[in-house]
Amino acid sequence: KIENHLRPQLLSDYIGQEKAKETLKIYIEAAKERGESLDHVLFYGPPGLGKTTLAGIIANEMGVNLKITSGPAIEKPGEIAAILNNLQEGDVLFVDEIHRLNRQVEEVLYPAMEDYCIDIMIGKGASARSIRLDLPHFTLVGATTRAGMLTAPLRDRFGVIHRLEFYSWEELRTIILRSAKVLNVEIDPDGAYEMAKRSRGTPRLANRLLKRVRDFAQVRYEGVITKQVAQEALDLLDVDKLGLDTQDREILQALIYKFQGGPVGLESLAATLSEDAGTLEDVYEPYLIKSGFVQRTPRGRVATDLAYEHLGIPKEE
Ligand code: ADE
Repeated sequence: KIENHLRPQLLSDYIGQEKAKETLKIYIEAAKERGESLDHVLFYGPPGLGKTTLAGIIANEMGVNLKITSGPAIEKPGEIAAILNNLQEGDVLFVDEIHRLNRQVEEVLYPAMEDYCIDIMIGKGASARSIRLDLPHFTLVGATTRAGMLTAPLRDRFGVIHRLEFYSWEELRTIILRSAKVLNVEIDPDGAYEMAKRSRGTPRLANRLLKRVRDFAQVRYEGVITKQVAQEALDLLDVDKLGLDTQDREILQALIYKFQGGPVGLESLAATLSEDAGTLEDVYEPYLIKSGFVQRTPRGRVATDLAYEHLGIPKEE
C-alpha cells in the first residue's frame, strides 16, 4: 500500500494522461478476462507525473499486491531473485529508477520477465550446476526519467511503454480541487487555477504547494484559498507566475549571463551551477523546454526570447 491518500486508487479517479489511461484500461480488462497477469509496463518521463501512482492503480485494478523497490536498492542478483520468488501470483513489482539496475541484476530479470523463471547456481567449482526455479507470474512496472538510459534487452521486454506528459493547467486545476476536497481545504476555482499555472505541469508539486498554501490561508486569511491568497503565498514561496522556482531561474540566468544565452553544452552549464548534469537534464530541463524558455540545438542549450522577457533581461544583439 502506498501511504498517500491524495493518490487516486482507480483509473476512473485518475486525472490526465488520457492516452495511457485509455490503453491501460483495455489491457487490464483483457488480462483480467483471460485470468492472466498484465504484461510488463514501462513508464518514463520527468519526476512527479504519476509513475508510482499508476503502478498502484494497476495493482489495485488487477486485484493484486504491489511491491515497491528501486534500481539502486537492489545490489545483488540474489536480492532480486528473493524479491521475485516472494511475489504472489499476478503481483505487481514496481521498480523505480529502473535504469540504475546493475548488469548482473538485470540479467536475472530477462528470463524472469520473459518466462517467469530464474536460473540459480548451486555449489562451487567442478560440482557447480544451475537449477531452474519457476516464479509466480507477475507484472513488472518499471519507471525511469529517460527511456534512452535503459539497455535495449531490458526495454524490449516491456510489452507496454508509455511516456508520461506534463499536465495541462485545466487538468492540474481538477487535481488540485480533488486534493483540496480530500484534505478538507476550502479553495475556489480561481485559486485552484492560479495554483495550477504555477505547478510546473506536475501533480506532485501541485499537491505539495497546496499543503503550503493551505497553511498560509489558515494563518493569514480565513482559511479559504482564493486567487489572491494563492498569489501571495506562492510569491512568498518564490514560485513565479509561470511556476519557475529559484533553481529554474538560476539555470536561465546562468545561460544568459555566463554563456551569452548559449548555445552551451549541458555539462558546462551544469558545472557552472554545481549541479549534476543528469539531474539538470532529467529534472529541470524538460519543463523549461516544454514551456519554451530553453531550446535544445545541435550545438547546445539556448535561452529563448521568452526567457529574456520573463526574467526582464534586455537582449543585446
Ligand atoms: N493526484 C496526483 N496525481 C493525480 C492524478 N493524475 N489524478 C488525480 N489525482 C492525483
